[in-house]
Amino acid sequence: MTIRLGDVAPDFSADTTDGPINFHEWLGDSWGILFSHPKDFTPVCTTELGAFAARKSEFDSRNTKIIGVSVDDVASHQQWKGDIAETQGTALNFPIIGDEERKVATLYDMIHPNANDTLTVRSVFIIGPDKKVKLTLTYPASTGRNIDEIIRVLDSLQLVAGYSVATPANWQDGDEVIIANSITDDEAKTKFPKGFRKLKDYLRLTPQPNK
Ligand code: BEZ
Repeated sequence: MTIRLGDVAPDFSADTTDGPINFHEWLGDSWGILFSHPKDFTPVCTTELGAFAARKSEFDSRNTKIIGVSVDDVASHQQWKGDIAETQGTALNFPIIGDEERKVATLYDMIHPNANDTLTVRSVFIIGPDKKVKLTLTYPASTGRNIDEIIRVLDSLQLVAGYSVATPANWQDGDEVIIANSITDDEAKTKFPKGFRKLKDYLRLTPQPNK
């Protein structure tokens, strides 16, 4: 099933390294990040799982739960955890779904047969508290993901959920943001009391409003 932005994230029940979950119940009112890795006991995946674990407190502070998945079973994930802690310096501190029947992989279209018949690609889904998909990313098996970029997008998504703004290219938390074109200049004066710079009628920049 192809998942598009704005779709409700498919719900499922699954066993994980932290016990059985129902995905939507597990998400509760939080934001969520569901990400797949191709295979346990492989080098790039080991570095990625360690990298996510090392940044867990930053996801927590953004009210965001993280959960991994691959087509390996929970027993395999449990065995692999020791290697992640040993080589990456951070113990795994979030659940990984055992998906040996490829239920989650199929629901989220994580197997791309022209890349690999059986293994999941490196997918990332950011899901809002409304359970809708806000971002999808797909990386090949050979490229480990950039956790800074995932946190950057999460910051952008959480900012634009609360204000009539968008974030420009290469935006980082604390930079100027773009005022939505649905807002008139008069409205912008009230909504953005720090003022704004008008480069074009359609391009107005204001200091980040939640800072
Ligand atoms: C890796 O994580 O290194 C990897 C996994 C599956 C295929 C290729 C590389």
